[in-house]
Amino acid sequence: MKVGIIYNTNRREATYQIVVWLKSALEHKGFDVTVGKMNDFRDFDCDAFILGSAVYGFHVEKKFERFLGDKKHCLQNKPFATFVVCYFTKLSKMYRRGIFENLPSKPISHRAFKGYFNPSDIQKWDSNGQKTKATEWVHEFERIINFN
Ligand SMILES: Cc1cc2nc3c(=O)[nH]c(=O)nc-3n(C[C@H](O)[C@H](O)[C@H](O)COP(=O)(O)O)c2cc1C
Repeated sequence: MKVGIIYNTNRREATYQIVVWLKSALEHKGFDVTVGKMNDFRDFDCDAFILGSAVYGFHVEKKFERFLGDKKHCLQNKPFATFVVCYFTKLSKMYRRGIFENLPSKPISHRAFKGYFNPSDIQKWDSNGQKTKATEWVHEFERIINFN
């Protein structure tokens, strides 16, 4: 089964790292994984998708919302999960709205991962915690996909 991971970030920091962990956990389970940053993503011939974005200025970026709106037809009738990467994870219900409102249906699952503001904060980042969260989410993703 082919899974497409489509993400948006302005930096090569937390979001990118989380995508790498998701890809690795999916491949470990035998999924064929194709990854791309938003407009660079071409391979829509996937069986399922994981879509996620960094949060800046209390929102996922408008360009990501527009991208999802434009690609709605590619997601129709396919399972997809979504995620955000933000610092204030308690506000994640607010952040996810920009994603949910531009999808053809509700995602099968959603997660908020905690990122960090400055690259120099990476040493203080709970990377083990976020890696575990990403790996466990992939277990859940697989269970739901198989159940459907
Ligand atoms: C300019 C800027 C604005 C941010 N604004 C928010 C915000 O409004 N809410 C939040 O929870 N996190 C905010 N963050 C934290 C980011 O969500 C966090 O840095 C995350 O790791 C971003 O993904 P990235 O590392 O892939 O860039 C902001 C970070 C930056 C650099």
